[in-house]
Amino acid sequence: MAKIIGGVATTHVPSIGNAIAKGLQRDPYWAPFFGGFGAAHNWLARERPDVVVVFYNDHGLNFFLDKIPTFAVGAASEYRHADEGWGLPVSQPYPGDAELSWHLINSLVADEFDVTMCQEMLVDHAFTIPLALLWPEPDSRPVRTVPIAINTVQHPLPSPARCLKLGRSVGRAIASFDRDIKVLILGTGGLSHQLDGARAGFINKDFDLMCLDKLANDPDALARYSSLQIVEAAGSQGVELLNWIAMRGALTGEVAKVHSNYHIPISNTASALLVLSNDAEAAQTQYRKAS
Ligand code: DHB
Ligand code: FE
Repeated sequence: MAKIIGGVATTHVPSIGNAIAKGLQRDPYWAPFFGGFGAAHNWLARERPDVVVVFYNDHGLNFFLDKIPTFAVGAASEYRHADEGWGLPVSQPYPGDAELSWHLINSLVADEFDVTMCQEMLVDHAFTIPLALLWPEPDSRPVRTVPIAINTVQHPLPSPARCLKLGRSVGRAIASFDRDIKVLILGTGGLSHQLDGARAGFINKDFDLMCLDKLANDPDALARYSSLQIVEAAGSQGVELLNWIAMRGALTGEVAKVHSNYHIPISNTASALLVLSNDAEAAQTQYRKAS
């Protein structure tokens, strides 16, 4: 049976892709951000996931405001990136896992999540940058991916409670998938940021640190907010936190924090990284071995 090894959540700011392309990881501006990823790389090297299920939001590359699904699941054998206009290099296509995608879609619809099924889906920086951060050597990337896009752009947005339930449904579906694979859940975007309007540049460190704690220890506390309350507390793009909440929902085991990093700012964003194990006992054993 498939096994969920844990979850990672990270910021997806486009300029991170430009910094990677220019090799600026040790530059004083970037070092506090990129330096946070060493512990994630070590954990991934031990856990070696085969597939990554990515909760992210599209920013207008595949869906636009004229037609935007609340929840969309990729069901393709590969996902292409394209020029998004950020000056980002266009990535090579990402292999999919259509069999797992259809299992998730069947389980989600049976569980009353009427998702949009996408047999073709362009993926944007919210998908490509977190993968490049977690596997800096493209050849060492896990072979397969399943993208799940959550609308964080066109109101009305799904509620945090709904996104937590979506994640839980995905977690149950993966656990019932009859193939011996190790699955990582990824959530991208956030934390607090607002790119435009009167509050452009808005950041809320207290709220972000509270979210990092609740994501590890008490995700239901975040499900008590409405999405508009999240916009108010974290900014109009800070509501990308919904992707992190869905990621956490998919962790149906004994969750333990492996690592976190928080650094202000990267571009306009309070950047953060969170690594959660889905097996608290295994995480503790590894910690004892490493120390
Ligand atoms: C920035 C942040 C985002 O989440 C995004 O999608 C684009 C830009 C930024 O901080 O510049
Ligand atoms: Fe974004």
